[in-house]
Amino acid sequence: MTIQGQKDIDGLKKAGQAVAETLETMKSALCEGITTRDLDQIGAECLKRHGAVSAPIKMYRFPGTTCISVNREVAHGIPSDRVIRKGDLINIDVSAELNGYYADTGFTVPFGVTDSKLLDLCACSKRALGKALRVARAGEKLNRIGEVVELEANASGFDVIRNLTGHGIGRKLHEDPSIFSYYDPHQRGRLGKGMVVAIETFVSTGGRFAEETGDGWTLVADDGGFVAQYEHTVIVTEGEPIVVTRL
Ligand code: CO
Ligand code: CO
Repeated sequence: MTIQGQKDIDGLKKAGQAVAETLETMKSALCEGITTRDLDQIGAECLKRHGAVSAPIKMYRFPGTTCISVNREVAHGIPSDRVIRKGDLINIDVSAELNGYYADTGFTVPFGVTDSKLLDLCACSKRALGKALRVARAGEKLNRIGEVVELEANASGFDVIRNLTGHGIGRKLHEDPSIFSYYDPHQRGRLGKGMVVAIETFVSTGGRFAEETGDGWTLVADDGGFVAQYEHTVIVTEGEPIVVTRL
């Protein structure tokens, strides 16, 4: 969506705070021995306190309030009896609707991880999101975002997943346009003032495509490697974007 006025900004900020606080609460609750289902339940209670509704359930009938993807799971992991252990790479993605507005945020926690390659992967993907946010301003080419993410990944010896993307957002969870993690010379279009987009970085240890697994939801990388994703929902301006999912 493109915002029409202050009411839209306020509505998006409120939805953004609901998902940001939920993500933060879930991150704080991470501990050895907790199941991803219990973690999801903690997220569900937090969204409820805000009066927000899980977007994956509302839009896609996803079997969980949030997506929790552990280790080689890349995205759309289903909360389950799986027990969290030290050394797990855990991605939590929270999206929700509040008063007709959608916001989406994601974060990868290297929980007790000591493997330096995985720590580098997280740091690189986080850096890439920071750089992507800095170029996300009105008038900039849409494919510039993927360009900076891919360059950042390659500079650290990593790759990017090509078939998972950031996206327009606001009145629905996923709106046009798609915002890639790689440079697509054929992608036309520019960011416009007031555009609302979810920018997410899918940096991988080598995988280029996410593939389905047997459960109909969970995705893994085509090379069986790891991916770190970070995501914020922003409103595009002529300067720095307004990040509505930052606490
Ligand atoms: Co997300
Ligand atoms: Co998203």
